[in-house]
Amino acid sequence: MDSLVVLDFGSQTSQLIARRIREAQVYCELFPFDAAPEEVLALHPKGIILSGGPASVYDPGAPRLPAYVSQSGLPVLGICYGMQLMTQALGGRVAGSNDREYGPAEVEVVQANPLLPAGRHRVWMSHGDRIESPPPGFEILATSSNSPCAAMIDRRRGWIGLQFHPEVRHTAVGPAVLAAFARDVCRAEANWTPASIVDSAILRVRSQVGDAGVLAGVSGGVDSMVAAAIVQRAVGDQLTCVFVDTGLMRQGEPQAVAGTVGDHIGARLLAVNAAETFLEALAGVTDPELKRRIVGEKFIRVFEEQALRLRSGEPARAGAPRFLVQGTIYPDVVESSGPERRKAARIKTHHNVAGLPADMPFALVEPLRYLFKDEVRQVGLALGLPEDQVWRQPFPGPGLAVRCVGEVTAERLERLRAADAIVTEELGRADLLRRATAQAFAVLLPVRSVGVMGDQRTYGETIVLRAVATDDFMTADWARLPEEVLARVSSRIVNEVDGVNRVLFDITSKPPATIEWE
Ligand code: XMP
Repeated sequence: MDSLVVLDFGSQTSQLIARRIREAQVYCELFPFDAAPEEVLALHPKGIILSGGPASVYDPGAPRLPAYVSQSGLPVLGICYGMQLMTQALGGRVAGSNDREYGPAEVEVVQANPLLPAGRHRVWMSHGDRIESPPPGFEILATSSNSPCAAMIDRRRGWIGLQFHPEVRHTAVGPAVLAAFARDVCRAEANWTPASIVDSAILRVRSQVGDAGVLAGVSGGVDSMVAAAIVQRAVGDQLTCVFVDTGLMRQGEPQAVAGTVGDHIGARLLAVNAAETFLEALAGVTDPELKRRIVGEKFIRVFEEQALRLRSGEPARAGAPRFLVQGTIYPDVVESSGPERRKAARIKTHHNVAGLPADMPFALVEPLRYLFKDEVRQVGLALGLPEDQVWRQPFPGPGLAVRCVGEVTAERLERLRAADAIVTEELGRADLLRRATAQAFAVLLPVRSVGVMGDQRTYGETIVLRAVATDDFMTADWARLPEEVLARVSSRIVNEVDGVNRVLFDITSKPPATIEWE
């Protein structure tokens, strides 16, 4: 399969470049700028993209253009720092500057070329240094008020430099620019489609596991479901799915998981109801980090118990599994191998099925290892999983434990579940669950207030409605929900949920707040 590679010089948006290329149906992988040449070239790329980065080419110790890039004879697209690197390496002039140009700008195309259509384009700039004169052999393609050379090309080599960022959403022409580079300049074939992704994932799983048994933990989340569905397609009933019901799931969720695994994936499911174990372990605990730790540890213990039982051939029909499926996706892989500063300090202890201990007696199968989240969803649809499962909003591993602020009891969980179901139902009805909100849910606060219902005084707890808009979950804005929807959610919750007499709407962005309350 034809592919492109992105060399990552540390820009915040490097992953987006790879995503946009894949959206143009050309496979693309991201490598750190100092990756071993053999590793990058093993992919037999049809072209190389140099990302932006925070450095100036004049900084001591700034990353250089690796020699194999010019020696490869392949087309190269340099974006921002990448463009400055190619300029410096090929004998052009880069001017240092203390003024950063940051934000929207307009470029004017001054030469017909294969990437940028004629005319003026709104683009996104973020650079300090700029190109004063392009290297010999390059023509200037576009200018902006601040950059005499905002785009350049060496037609003979197929080397192109862009001062602006085509990968970010603010550059409207960006997807077309990147697609043209991949398809027209690099002549890569557009064959990265959901069907081809499924086919290649199935082949990889088959060759890895042979005729051994495989175990998959399913949580109801889209990653674990799609991973299990691929493995089922690859090895059929060698697969056993294990679902641990922690009692911390949303309304109807355990049933939905069983339904999807049985009806749509067609795999054997071992469902373990461990709600009591989790509730007992959480009794009296109010500290958020302690809750996270307890749920994480218990989850591993319960899962491990089941896994080891199956491993030893119990129940006999399951066929002792030797492999364990993990729903690791590409951003996890890139983040853990990327430039050091990206391995940012964790604000919260994260827990999910992917966090199982390394010393379990299983080899890992990771069918989603090379996929972005949106590709996982497309693959899910291609495999026939139901739309509402595939578009499910993310749900934290520790579940409702971290949305039940204060003590986690069966009664309070029930209260929270009922309120949360109303939120989902009303927002779904108003079509606000996909585009308008990336995540919307209820949080229960241990704060009681006085109310009146009929002629009765009430003294009940508080529900917070949290709804955010975000692309990446790293930053988020609170969603501007229509007043009528807020009114309906509030009135239904206080009327229908026992023990709640007040509803608040969280209008805090991330940062400074996080999306979850704990
Ligand atoms: P925060 O609250 O940190 O959440 O802004 C960012 C995103 O991560 C989800 N989240 C988790 N996901 N295990 C997960 O798999 C966890 O422990 C966990 N904690 C938070 C959260 O729902 C949001 O989408």
